[in-house]
Amino acid sequence: MQKLLRGSKVIGTGHYCPERVLSNHDLESMVDTSDEWIVTRTGIRERRIAASEEACSDLAYVAAQRALEAAGVDPKELDAIVLGTVTGDMQFPATACLIQNRLGATNAAAFDVSAACSGFIYGVTASHALISCGRMNRILVIGVDLLSKIVDWQDRATCVLFGDGAGAVVLEACEAGEGILGTYIKSDGSLAELLHIPSGGSRQPATAETIAQRGHFIKMKGDGVFKYAVRAMEDAAKRVLEQASVALEDVNLIIPHQANMRIVDAVVKRLEVPMERVVVNLDRYGNTSSGTIPIAFDEVVRSGRVKKGDLVLMFTFGGGLTWGSVLLRYI
Ligand code: ACO
Repeated sequence: MQKLLRGSKVIGTGHYCPERVLSNHDLESMVDTSDEWIVTRTGIRERRIAASEEACSDLAYVAAQRALEAAGVDPKELDAIVLGTVTGDMQFPATACLIQNRLGATNAAAFDVSAACSGFIYGVTASHALISCGRMNRILVIGVDLLSKIVDWQDRATCVLFGDGAGAVVLEACEAGEGILGTYIKSDGSLAELLHIPSGGSRQPATAETIAQRGHFIKMKGDGVFKYAVRAMEDAAKRVLEQASVALEDVNLIIPHQANMRIVDAVVKRLEVPMERVVVNLDRYGNTSSGTIPIAFDEVVRSGRVKKGDLVLMFTFGGGLTWGSVLLRYI
């Protein structure tokens, strides 16, 4: 692979989750489920749900402001805003453009990345490349999803899994070999139907029939996703470590995509790392899709659990199927 002359590093993080908490006990009165089933199958105890008037850009905007404030960066200094989501405010324009306007980031290009739960990792990967090649100096990367707006609240197999939230980081140019040490992304479109929304696009535009068939909600084959997720995340973790010539024992903190505790446990077991080094917050937020990793990252930054100089490994998987990883030194 070509040697890069420069790299990028995280200089600020932020997150925002809606105020409303929906507990497993609340769900018991909505669908045929129980707190016991949800906790033992997923590890999730509660999740945040956006208000009816709250949209993707509302959550992303607050997370972005917090990240910019932490970084001490004026929005006008941004060269780009890259936003990973599958629940944008509307089909188009990109929600990143709405954020650009709200922030007054008048010098920034803005685009969305559609990679489901991998949106943030894909966004960091693209942004790191844009900075490393010298085209840009400062990029705001956001991972945000409001799956509560596209989940079928009559389908107990999916509605208990998801929550809403946004996280953001500001990346800035640095010397090669500092900050982000490796990125890896991959996809397998032959498995698209494991996790998808069949209607509402150009294949099946919205009609009274598609609405009656509940075609605008998430359809998931949970067991297939589960099996693939474990293998894909293990692979993504190993590949990025290999790319950066870093041993797993030297990694201080691991931030896996927060989909399901059993998936996290299975990956951690395969990687043979102690649980103390693994960040878990899915019990409080559920699966916020593109939001899980940047939310967890901001929490460990603000709590001091991650320290300057620490090596942080992040990995994810999502609809597409897509998966990927980022290895960085927090400086
Ligand atoms: N409450 C009670 N019972 C339930 C519920 C529920 N909420 N949901 C399903 N069940 C029932 C099923 O109907 C089934 O009943 P049956 O045996 O009578 O048919 C039984 O529980 C077992 O169902 P399984 O699907 O076999 O349960 P499993 O142990 O596989 O767990 C789960 C299901 C939690 C969905 C798991 O497969 C999983 O986590 N998969 C990964 C899903 C995921 O992470 N998706 C997000 C992908 S990321 C992205 O891009 C958005």
